[in-house]
Amino acid sequence: MEPVKKLSRSIRGKVALVTGAASGMGRATAHVFADEGAKVAVIDLKQDRVDAVVKEIEAAGGEAAGWALDVTDGEGIVRVVKEIGERFGGLDILVNNAGLATFHGIGEPGYEETWARALDVMLTAHMRFVRAALPMLKKSSEGRIVNVASTEGFGATPGNSPYVAAKHGVIGLTRALAVELGREGVTANCICPGPIRTGITQGIPDEQKEIFAKRRVPLRRYGFPEEVAHVTLSVVLPASSYLNGVTIPVDGGMLVKNA
Ligand code: NAI
Repeated sequence: MEPVKKLSRSIRGKVALVTGAASGMGRATAHVFADEGAKVAVIDLKQDRVDAVVKEIEAAGGEAAGWALDVTDGEGIVRVVKEIGERFGGLDILVNNAGLATFHGIGEPGYEETWARALDVMLTAHMRFVRAALPMLKKSSEGRIVNVASTEGFGATPGNSPYVAAKHGVIGLTRALAVELGREGVTANCICPGPIRTGITQGIPDEQKEIFAKRRVPLRRYGFPEEVAHVTLSVVLPASSYLNGVTIPVDGGMLVKNA
């Protein structure tokens, strides 16, 4: 029999970029990657929040650097990605995670502004980061793109159409990238979180969270950002080299529950 191949389960020394990394799942992902020895570029809107996460990572013995950037700033993305490459000597892992809640009834005034914001932050930015990072991802021996969508990328909650459209778009973009970039050795996969305790959901009272989770989620609770970050880690491992174009729900079983 042929010996079983030993594939690497380490991202030590890899360079990873995480958007929306000052809070929630982005912050947890930045921490988990740094714990595993990756050099992490932390990107978020505000310098002080970015600096705080970089400090936390450094205090835990990891390596990170921060950039304050609004991901709707296309020129800023090109500049920052270039700076990250210069600082760390390349880029291996791109995690497009930044996002915000954009509930807005389709017939309500101001809808088009919300629509534009949702697509700019949660879909166009993903595409722009991929374009800016592509030359470095191609040079990497294990280029990885992870786009964060949502269970709202499979179904829909009433009054949430801008977000739902953006997240469905993220799944489509991921699939298109997977088939286009596979030949370059770059994989693209999508993480679809269910209800997770983060900045986006912190305004929902605990009592309401519990009612929702008990009714809809087989695990009967909201998830923690760390539980999503570890799935993201598993996707970017060198050993996950044949995983490409998939959408992975991390939702406590919510999507498969009928009754
Ligand atoms: P969060 O609010 O804790 O973190 C999101 C981060 O993105 C924040 O730090 C925010 O400042 C940043 N951000 C927002 N707009 C930005 C912009 N224009 N430029 C740069 N950074 C920006 O929320 P969470 O939940 O960790 O969100 C991460 C991703 O997960 C988002 O894409 C969200 O849509 C998605 N998601 C969240 C779910 C949940 O239940 N929390 C469920 C499904 C998907």
